[in-house]
Amino acid sequence: MKIYKARDYDHVSQIAANILAAQIILKPDSVLGLATGGTPVGTYKQLIEKYKNGDICFSQVTAINLDEYCGLDSDNDQSYAYFMRDNLFNYININFYYVNIPNGMAKDAKAECERYNEVIAKNPIDIQLLGIGPNGHIGFNEPASELSATSHHVELAPATIEANKRFFENEEQVPRTAYTMGMGQIMHAQKILLVASGAGKADILCQALKGPITTRVPASFLQMHGDVVVVADEAALRKVL
Ligand code: GLP
Repeated sequence: MKIYKARDYDHVSQIAANILAAQIILKPDSVLGLATGGTPVGTYKQLIEKYKNGDICFSQVTAINLDEYCGLDSDNDQSYAYFMRDNLFNYININFYYVNIPNGMAKDAKAECERYNEVIAKNPIDIQLLGIGPNGHIGFNEPASELSATSHHVELAPATIEANKRFFENEEQVPRTAYTMGMGQIMHAQKILLVASGAGKADILCQALKGPITTRVPASFLQMHGDVVVVADEAALRKVL
């Protein structure tokens, strides 16, 4: 595992965007596993700048997002589909045919998970961008006694609802369930890029990177992946380095 200590959030974003840009330059038809949440927003801004400067081209890139809330359609501004358009896709030349996000409005959860499993099986992920939830979740793989390898329908943990309510008008509006890529699918990505920023992530980042590998901290499984790059600022790495 490589750990890059960045000065601050902007520096995290700069390094993470450089890594993703290098991936796209070296392999223009890369499959990018993408994440939502507050942390990757700066990374996406930097990628947009690199695209505008002509440094990178997304025309052959495939995007596979980690997760989506259930019950929100893609035009709902709280959906992850909307988030991705608003923070990245609308500003780059990605082909929307190559954009994949679970359908939060799917009526048949099993069929939707099977569909997403097929998407991932057909498009092996070259690099998976990850944030980390306050309880150690990655995607929406929540702490539990068992984790799922493949895409599944998940009940969100109280800590996740609490953390994500800042994006909604109030806590009641936070969806209670979601679709997420499974742990096995994340672990199969060729390379993993984990971004974290701020003192609020210091404890969980330390548990994930240095603590025991446990289903109670899903991100701790990353210790078993052969090619993980962690880009985090000093505040988030305070207890790790
Ligand atoms: C959400 C997403 C996760 C993300 C997490 C952390 O729950 N499903 O993929 O890692 O938020 O978000 P933030 O970066 O805002 O702390």
